[in-house]
Amino acid sequence: MGRKLRLGVNIDHVATIRNARGGLHPDPVRAAHLAVQAGADGITAHLREDRRHISDRDIARLATEIDRPLNLEMAATPEMLQIALRHRPHAACLVPEKREERTTEGGLDVARGIDHLRPYVEALSKAGIRVSLFIEADPKQLDAAKAVGAPVVELHTGAYCEAEGAERDRLLKRVEDAAAYAERLGLECHAGHGLSYDTVLPIAVIPSLVELNIGHFLVGEAIFSGLEHSIRRMRALMDRARRTG
Ligand code: PXP
Repeated sequence: MGRKLRLGVNIDHVATIRNARGGLHPDPVRAAHLAVQAGADGITAHLREDRRHISDRDIARLATEIDRPLNLEMAATPEMLQIALRHRPHAACLVPEKREERTTEGGLDVARGIDHLRPYVEALSKAGIRVSLFIEADPKQLDAAKAVGAPVVELHTGAYCEAEGAERDRLLKRVEDAAAYAERLGLECHAGHGLSYDTVLPIAVIPSLVELNIGHFLVGEAIFSGLEHSIRRMRALMDRARRTG
């Protein structure tokens, strides 16, 4: 049996539904508690510059009320750095952020942004926050992540999840190769974006991966089967992948 694969449940879209009407319901912190009960190893939340889903108050509550590691997804900006240093989450995942995008559309270009990213990686690491860089499954980006001093990378699985047939196989192979290369470089390797019951198995069997971060599908599926059930089922698929290889 392979080592356990951690599941980070991203609760951003509970906040999306709440914000559609204003007010307090549904509460993402309640969803985080439920996720922990259902087998999440950690909670992930993205505080975007435009606060379209998760709010500053959500982050403050998640940091104090949840007894599992909090992974704060954030852009590398002075404002977000101050917030991370105030709340000291277990981990910070640096992501690219464009106001006009619907979701995080691509990985960080670490190779071209080393000088910009280095002070963020250093400041977060100095505060005891484990820094992860959200990147495409590309050896050039992995070399740059290593050079900038990040201990963790998260590989973007969005393109693999959206592709079909031979193209999906090709993109899966890229993720597999990148995860193996990350391990050789001594980087802890995570993956996420767009994962569903249909796409998770081939990713979960990749032995070099230690964590998956999954959100939108789980919250969407909760409409039909409940959040606890959707997370338990995802957890079971991930565990099965690790048991059977
Ligand atoms: N990982 C990162 C870095 C992300 O930005 C996101 C989306 O916020 C996810 C994982 C989760 O993606 P999804 O919501 O599509 O499961």
